[in-house]
Amino acid sequence: MKIKYLGHSAFLISTKETNILIDPFIKDNPLCSLSLKELPKIDYILVTHGHSDHLGDTISIAREHSANVICNFEISLYLQKYNIKCHPMHIGGRFDFPFGNVKMTIAIHGSGIIDGNHVVYGGNPCGFILNIEDKKIYHAGDTGLTMEMKLLERENIDIAMLPIGGNFTMDLDDCVLACDFIKPKTIIPMHYDTFDLIKSHPSDLTSKLEEINLSSIKIDILKPEEEKNY
Ligand code: NI
Ligand code: MN
Repeated sequence: MKIKYLGHSAFLISTKETNILIDPFIKDNPLCSLSLKELPKIDYILVTHGHSDHLGDTISIAREHSANVICNFEISLYLQKYNIKCHPMHIGGRFDFPFGNVKMTIAIHGSGIIDGNHVVYGGNPCGFILNIEDKKIYHAGDTGLTMEMKLLERENIDIAMLPIGGNFTMDLDDCVLACDFIKPKTIIPMHYDTFDLIKSHPSDLTSKLEEINLSSIKIDILKPEEEKNY
């Protein structure tokens, strides 16, 4: 499969049959110069929480592509008002989709949805574990470091997409501790350098992982719009 980083926490995962977007913050994403028109046919959109830098362009993309949105129950209620097709899930649940299975994991964060002058309740924020083509991918969403990440070690994660930007989520040092809990084979840092408040230095991960004897973990620092085969 191919994984394309769109900057911030947005990823496009493509298999032969299916294109999946995670947290499609594209139009207003300062790191992403892609226009919505340049996207391939999108089949599924996974949304970790209701904040605008994650829910992003979900409504317009889901409409344009008749994509199915996988998100928590509360966000699905919100999206259904816009006639968007949704598959609601909740923390701890796993479901078999045609492309593979998805488990919703806990994230410690907020999930309010800005709707005009109001904030709509967006349920609990989440992360996702996707099992696609014999690879396990963990997208942490926005979260602080949690002890629950220790449970993910049993999932044998191949690729972990982890926030490193701090301020709203865990920073580089907590990301290193998360790696110690999860023991993924590869990590892709995310949620950094998009705004001034979340500046980070992903290249420091190498030495910080070495310090705690985790140099076997591969670090894939993807540039925005860079695509890699996995
Ligand atoms: Ni957020
Ligand atoms: Mn965010």
